[in-house]
Amino acid sequence: MKKTVCDLTVTSNIQLNHDNYLLRLHADKKLGKIIPGQFVNILVPGSPGTFLRRPFSVFDVNYDENTLSVLVKTVGGGTHKLSLLEINQRVNAIFPLGNGFSLPQKQEKILLVGGGVGIAPMMIMAKESKEIGADVHILLGAQSRRDHILIDQFSELGSVYITTDDGSLGTKGFVTHHPVLNNNEGFNRVYCCGPDPMMKAVAKISKSHGTECEVSLENTMACGFGVCLCCVTKTKSGNKCVCTEGPVFNVKDLSWQI
Ligand SMILES: Cc1cc2nc3c(=O)[nH]c(=O)nc-3n(C[C@H](O)[C@H](O)[C@H](O)COP(=O)(O)OP(=O)(O)OC[C@H]3O[C@@H](n4cnc5c(N)ncnc54)[C@H](O)[C@@H]3O)c2cc1C
Ligand code: FES
Repeated sequence: MKKTVCDLTVTSNIQLNHDNYLLRLHADKKLGKIIPGQFVNILVPGSPGTFLRRPFSVFDVNYDENTLSVLVKTVGGGTHKLSLLEINQRVNAIFPLGNGFSLPQKQEKILLVGGGVGIAPMMIMAKESKEIGADVHILLGAQSRRDHILIDQFSELGSVYITTDDGSLGTKGFVTHHPVLNNNEGFNRVYCCGPDPMMKAVAKISKSHGTECEVSLENTMACGFGVCLCCVTKTKSGNKCVCTEGPVFNVKDLSWQI
């Protein structure tokens, strides 16, 4: 889909837990196809201190209602302002940006791994993969029970596995300790988004099983369209901008020591 710069109208902004908000935005013009893993760059309204746009993975799209949703975790000034948005307020956004995940084939067995707010692109990915007819498994990790959100919604799309660092919900430990990832369970593809150390560990396990693995990087960005070069990552074919040539990379192409 061609990139669009436009004002979107807030249709809901739901607080999901202590620091996560689900923001649904309506577009006046018909939305084109958005690929799971692509992101939207949002200008924070009324916030001169956060003049650079903030990137968010597309969490969900409803083409009938012409809305897209993003999951916002409040970490600083920009995300705090977005958490306060009210219905009918307008935000300027550029989308869809980046490349997106490779979609699975029908009947392929896939594992989606999301850590923290890295679960965001996994909702739209799970939805589309289920529609294709893939066998969808979803591993969600967070620090504690209070940090887990949207488990019921994910459960409608596939088999869900949970970890918490403190053992307050699901299997105790990191996602990388969960048997569904560690036992070679015949996945055709693994998709992952979360903190870098987690993605590297998931990539290493997938590699040891000979399983294709794609990761969505969340490097800090400024322009979001390949001009400022602040988001580059090292790959086997040189430095690449995460905003234009990612955020999704096959781990085989990254210069990760795994
Ligand atoms: C491709 C992409 C997709 C993303 N998707 C989501 C998403 O779906 N939901 C979501 O909540 N966040 C997502 N992020 C991260 C989000 O963009 C940042 O959290 C946000 O820009 C922070 O803005 P702020 O003004 O609130 O914080 P700032 O005041 O700018 O920073 C506050 C703190 O957050 C850290 N931070 C800032 N940017 C990032 C980043 N990119 N990654 C990690 N830490 C960061 C800063 O180092 C600082 O410690 C994504 C980032 C990228 C690059
Ligand atoms: S954010 Fe500017 S080049 Fe990627």
